[in-house]
Formats: sequence, C-alpha cells, structure tokens
Amino acid sequence: MRPLVHFTPARNFMNDPNGLVYHAGEYHLFYQHNPFGEVWGHMSWGHAVSRDLVHWEHLPVALAEEDGIMMFSGCAVVDQENTSGLGAPGNPPLVAIYTGHSEREQTQNIAYSRDLGRTWTKYPGNPVIAIGSREHRDPKVIWHAPTRRWIMVTVLADIHKVRFDGSADLIHWEHLSDFGPFGAEDGVWECPDLFPMPIEGEPGEVVWVIKVDVCRTVGAQVIVGDFDGRVFTPRAPGQVWRVDYGVDFYAAQSWSNTPDGRRLWLAWMSNWHYANQTPSSPWRGLCSLPRELILRRTSAGLRPFQRPIVELERTRGAQLRLHLADVDESNAALAGLQPLSACEVALSVDLRSTRRFSVKVDHGAGQETILTCDVQSGTLALDRTRSGDSGFSDVFAAVHTAPLALEQGALDLRIFLDACSIEVFAQQGAIAFTDLIFPRGAEHTISLVAEGGDPTILALDLWPLGPA
Ligand code: FRU
Repeated sequence: MRPLVHFTPARNFMNDPNGLVYHAGEYHLFYQHNPFGEVWGHMSWGHAVSRDLVHWEHLPVALAEEDGIMMFSGCAVVDQENTSGLGAPGNPPLVAIYTGHSEREQTQNIAYSRDLGRTWTKYPGNPVIAIGSREHRDPKVIWHAPTRRWIMVTVLADIHKVRFDGSADLIHWEHLSDFGPFGAEDGVWECPDLFPMPIEGEPGEVVWVIKVDVCRTVGAQVIVGDFDGRVFTPRAPGQVWRVDYGVDFYAAQSWSNTPDGRRLWLAWMSNWHYANQTPSSPWRGLCSLPRELILRRTSAGLRPFQRPIVELERTRGAQLRLHLADVDESNAALAGLQPLSACEVALSVDLRSTRRFSVKVDHGAGQETILTCDVQSGTLALDRTRSGDSGFSDVFAAVHTAPLALEQGALDLRIFLDACSIEVFAQQGAIAFTDLIFPRGAEHTISLVAEGGDPTILALDLWPLGPA
C-alpha cells in the first residue's frame, strides 16, 4: 500500500500536517504522529523536509509528548525580525505554535529552533494562551503587515467558532474577535487556516480566506471575506465553498513563507471514521498531494480552485497522448499500456451529445473505482464501493457525489492514482475529490465508458509517475 508520490511516515501513525513553513531553501512538513504505534496516541510532531515538495527526507521527532501533555496540531513561522527574542542576532528563529492537550484543558504553546528546525526547545513560559477550555485548539499564525503583529486563528471546536488573537511577540496575546458559526456545524470544527489571496487576473485586489474543517462530515470548508487585523467580514454572507467532495481531505494547512508567493497546501488523507483501521503497515496515514490554491471570480462568486503543484511533473514518465479520438480509439491506446502503478491522467471530453461518461480504473480481481459524469443530472460521482478492501469500516464503501456544471459541454479532468489513493480535479480544479482506495495489488488499467452518445475525446494525456 506504500504510495509512490505521496508522503507517508516511515513507520507508525500520522494524522494532520503541522508546522508547514519554508525556510532557508527547505519546505518543512511536521505532522501529528504516534512514534510508538500504528493507531492514534502519544501525539508528537513527526518531521520531514523537502527542497521541491515532492521528494522528502525523514527527520527525527521534533516535539515529543511530555508530562502527560500531547503535542496537538499547530503551525510554524519564521520570526524574521526576532520579535519573540527567541532567536540569536542574525539568526531568526523558527517558532512552532501548537496546542498542548491534557485531560483537563487545551492550551496554546510555543517552541523554537535556532538550527533550521533540527532541534526544538519548548518555551519555558508556556502556555501562551489558556482560556480554560477543553475545545480550544489548532493554532495557525500569520504575520499581519498592516498592523505589524502576529494573528493567531484557532477553533472553539464544539461551539463552531474561529477565534482571533493578536500579538507583537508571539508570547503575549490579546483576544481580538470570534467568527462563526458559518456553513456546516454537524461535526466539531478543527484545523483553521487564514490567509490573504490575490484574485486571479485582478492585480491589486486582495481578499481573505478562512478554512475550517468539519469533522466526519463535509471536511474542509472555505469562506471568502475581508480581515482588518481584528475582525473577519464575509464578502458574500452565507456563501461557503466545500473544498473537496471526497471524504479523505482533512486538516489541510497552507505553507507559511513560500518563496514565490504561491498559496500551497496539503491535507491529511484520511477520515476520523476509520483513521485507526485503514489496512496499511508498518505505517498508517498519509498526505494528499500538495496543491496550489487560486481564487477566481466566477458567475457564482469568488471561488477557490485547486491544482496539483507543477513540481509533481518531475515524477512523470513517458507520455501517452491522444487528440480528437473517440472512446474506442482511446480504449485501444489505453489497453496497450503496461498496467500502471502511480499515474496521472488529464482528459478533456466533449459531452454535448452524451448522457453519461465514465473513467473506469480496473485494479484486477474484480476490483474497480469508477468516476462518472452524469450530464443530465449535472453530477460527478466517484464510486469506491468495489475498489478493494473496505471491510475495516461500515462507511468506507460509498459513492461520493458533487454537483457539476459543464461549460459548453466540456468535461475537464485531472486524475492522480497512487497505490492507495485517487485524487480528481475537475473543471480546472473547481471540484476536487480526494479518496483512499485499498485494492489488493497496486496495478491499474484505465478505460473509458460512454452511454447515450459517442463523445469526442478532445485530449487525453497519461503519464506513469515514478517514485518520489
Ligand atoms: C484533527 C485533530 C486536531 C487535533 C489533532 C490531534 O484531525 O483532531 O483537532 O489537534 O487532530 O491529533
């Protein structure tokens, strides 16, 4: 089950990505980790670094559970101006901001590193925020240049609010405001993010985005608005975007301090319904592909789009390319390929005269995963009911569905398959699906199926992906 192009811990359990920060030529990825077992527990921060977000090097555990306090989710920043005083002259510290979890309460804490994230010291004055709550967690901190201070966003998980605090030095914090509820409230809220974003093609326009996850239900949801350094105000009250229509994109966090200003994020690819039961060993839990987030003005409003980072193209092998083919020609070409392990498929198809169109991934031994666009009902559905092992959970075998509007009859898809996952980006990334699948045997063959018409395949590209 070990994927080729997705991050997995070398051993044992992982959940949320934490502390995503770029510093001195390295992207850091910390993550919720049990160093002692393949199920959740003893939460600590695992650690890996990468120069390209594709190839990762494992490093020792960065922050370990201590004195009955677990290291829950959080973030990391480069304290460029040494506002915290935790760095040394000429050497800005990396500062991690995390939730300390005990039976009694959840508090916000900091730790710092002066050696490029290799070793960490917990701040002796911890916690830096303690409000006496058991449901206050997952700090994400950004530098807010206009007010020259740090802003922390956390969740008040059970009452469905995000909370803002401000600080000049990462140590002394002042409560600024709360925002919420909005969107889905049918699960606890976790892992908020907050960041400014340009609108594509509109230089100078900046809006603010809040992301928060709803546990076990819709996962990540995004709201677009304005933030004045104290209060968040939605642009279109009531308009909330669901980030992913699969069920295995959770606890996404965006990188702090990216060198080129891209807004990059990745998520934990699992779901608390079955995170402790998924059939892999000696590791359990993995990350989604890193994605770039884009905000585009559409007829429906300012909408987030996701596209897998361009760096992933480095893993591509020899390409199959078809233009203006029909389904039979395409299937003949696809059948000529070796069974694939990890691969990327890009497909654009004219469905103006077709009722239903599917991309079928055959995993052998009667196992299959099917993505179907139903033109009449305007939906895209990912069926993993027969995708392989699903007996570890009652809710795993399911069909996940998104509303989908075709533009001039064209369906645009990018699909990434790996040993135990499928990620789909439809209509330039307006719609995404991220789903685990556990076929026995990691070889896939791909075919196309059309019903009620004979669609034109405008373009089909397929690349096997090499191990990262
Ligand atoms: C989200 C989460 C966070 C928490 C962490 C604990 O998956 O529940 O809210 O900090 O996992 O591992």
